[in-house]
Amino acid sequence: MWRPAFERCVRLLAERDQLKEAAAERALQYVESGMLLGLGSGTTSRLFIEGLIRRAEQGLRVTAVCTSLESARMAREAGIEVVEDLDRAVDLAIDGADEIDPSLNLVKGHGGALFREKLVALAARRFLVIADDSKLVPRLGQTYVPVEVLPFLWRRTGDRLLALADRLELRGGEREPFRTDNGNLILDLTFHGGLPEPERTAAQVKSISGVLEHGLFIGIASACLVAAPEGVRVLEKT
Ligand code: A5P
Repeated sequence: MWRPAFERCVRLLAERDQLKEAAAERALQYVESGMLLGLGSGTTSRLFIEGLIRRAEQGLRVTAVCTSLESARMAREAGIEVVEDLDRAVDLAIDGADEIDPSLNLVKGHGGALFREKLVALAARRFLVIADDSKLVPRLGQTYVPVEVLPFLWRRTGDRLLALADRLELRGGEREPFRTDNGNLILDLTFHGGLPEPERTAAQVKSISGVLEHGLFIGIASACLVAAPEGVRVLEKT
């Protein structure tokens, strides 16, 4: 009884992986030797970094600023120079997303790297999002919106956040909370019915003391490379 369902699930996951691979592969076409790249986090970004490493082995030379310790480790191990401070703009940042709305606003941070992801995206001349088509949503807030908060007095910060949302969860639970690469906590906010005004919610969340950053990326993406079974579509910001 459970076997066909399990096999269907495995097949769907394999198909998603192929789509992520297609989006990552397409993003590699935007990379040129000499670029300073922003490298994202998550499974789609990982596929992009693996592709970049293959290109670096064939002679491509790039420098990277990374959105997570894991992405930095991968790049360094492959001999790609990784910087942690910038004296110029990032030429191109490439990262995944958890939700993409029709205006190319995003929810990011389901992997917990949203703070560095936003800093890198904002530092880039061009920010390309790579994703499979399951990430397209009519309105942001279909899943949950991660918020990175200072551990100090986090419950009080949570109370203020909960006044804006329907549900709040400490990622990882209280016994062993998830810690970001910056040593902070993540509170995941759920909004029933999604976010009718994501810019407004983004501003409200950001204004709360104790909040360091949130996963709403409003007006930051330059373009999204979205892979579907029919091919990769390029959605440009209008
Ligand atoms: C990491 O914190 C996230 O913002 C990821 O970019 C996002 O969760 C997309 O991840 P996947 O590529 O694994 O779907």
